[in-house]
Amino acid sequence: MTLEVPHPAATTPPPDAAAVEAAARRLAGVATRTPLQPSARWSAATGARVRLKREDLQVVRSYKLRGAYNLIAQLSAGERARGVVTASAGNHAQGVAHACATLRVRGRVYVPRTTPRQKRDRIRALGGEFVETVVLGDTYDDAAAAAARDAVETGATVVPAFDDPRTLTGQGTVAVEVVEQLAELGEAPPDVLVVPVGGGGLLAGVLTWVRERHPGVRVVGVEPAGAPSMAAALAAGRPVRLEEVDSFVDGASVRRVGDVTHAVVAGAPVELVTVPEGAICVEMLAMYQTDGIIAEPAGALATAALAEAVRVEPGQSVVCVVSGGNNDLSRYAEVVERALVHEGRKHYFLVEFPQEPGALRRFLDEVLGPDDDITLFEYVKRSNRETGPALVGIEIPARDDLPALLERMAAAPPSFERISAAEPLYRYLL
Ligand SMILES: Cc1ncc(COP(=O)(O)O)c(C=O)c1O
Repeated sequence: MTLEVPHPAATTPPPDAAAVEAAARRLAGVATRTPLQPSARWSAATGARVRLKREDLQVVRSYKLRGAYNLIAQLSAGERARGVVTASAGNHAQGVAHACATLRVRGRVYVPRTTPRQKRDRIRALGGEFVETVVLGDTYDDAAAAAARDAVETGATVVPAFDDPRTLTGQGTVAVEVVEQLAELGEAPPDVLVVPVGGGGLLAGVLTWVRERHPGVRVVGVEPAGAPSMAAALAAGRPVRLEEVDSFVDGASVRRVGDVTHAVVAGAPVELVTVPEGAICVEMLAMYQTDGIIAEPAGALATAALAEAVRVEPGQSVVCVVSGGNNDLSRYAEVVERALVHEGRKHYFLVEFPQEPGALRRFLDEVLGPDDDITLFEYVKRSNRETGPALVGIEIPARDDLPALLERMAAAPPSFERISAAEPLYRYLL
């Protein structure tokens, strides 16, 4: 059955810079004017003047409040009375919850079961008595279908996470603030503005304003390598559904970008790049350990792109949007693991140990270097065979130490097989 929820593009005028500026006025006093901070780490690494727009310090710890509030604030009294409904894996839901509580509008938020607990708790805390959270389905698509059904049955207004002119013009206010804040420092608009991309709301909003008001700014959109849905849409000339996505970057792993967001992005000069999930993890750890910033994976996308994906010239003014900081503490173990693998410091092997006393000791003495560390060891004794397999994880000090480790392994008695990222067993480990 197809649900007849009118598409926003059919009912709302196309987004333009004036709509972004109107959104900025609406949001004054509601959204936090987040700091624009110099990044000593990235400035030193690139030679550019890199600044971070700290949307992780937003009242809901992501920029998502901007779009949600901008949409709900424009509803008529009748629409407000019927309430709003949305589906979100987390951050947008928090934005909607905060907007509902601020505007005293009732809302129902559908989240898939995979939504981290920290995000669910925050939705409840922000929405208070105005918001009901409904946990349903395994994927965002399940939650979205339920939200659409709800809207048809109850007359509530759907608040799309990205695919609506009002949502995206709200997100675009980030760019307005960046330019204002630079002007207050006596500086021109940035040479380069780097933003993360999921469904394309932030990118489309930023482009809507920048291309009319400051066309000289180079806007770069960054997608996770495991979910490059905007790149796929631009290549196909229309939004397409990605069959396989890596959901690690939970804010920005979107299977299909929006029709409205795609139309805006396709009509503007824009550079799109992707960053592997492992590189995002490396950046999350650097942000945490060096900069003292808790970024969620999507929040680290823009700066992660500075490592390789985006070329900036020394002396240029560069702004990266740190889009969100809702990271579940329990995820850091996986973040550390993925970062180590990406840096070439963590490797897995299947080692066939001769089933004789002293075999393990010899392996430790002859194969492991002084600074190599065993991080995983699972051994199954086989009484009916001459060898027994062990699954071994080894952390080495640097990528360059791998050839020597492989040489020592090849020379030692146990035979070994390296487990490559392409193998199904690897997916069990990571
Ligand atoms: C922290 C964060 N960054 C980036 C994105 C990407 O969003 P968009 O749909 O605006 O491209 C999201 C989406 O939820 C997010 O939560």
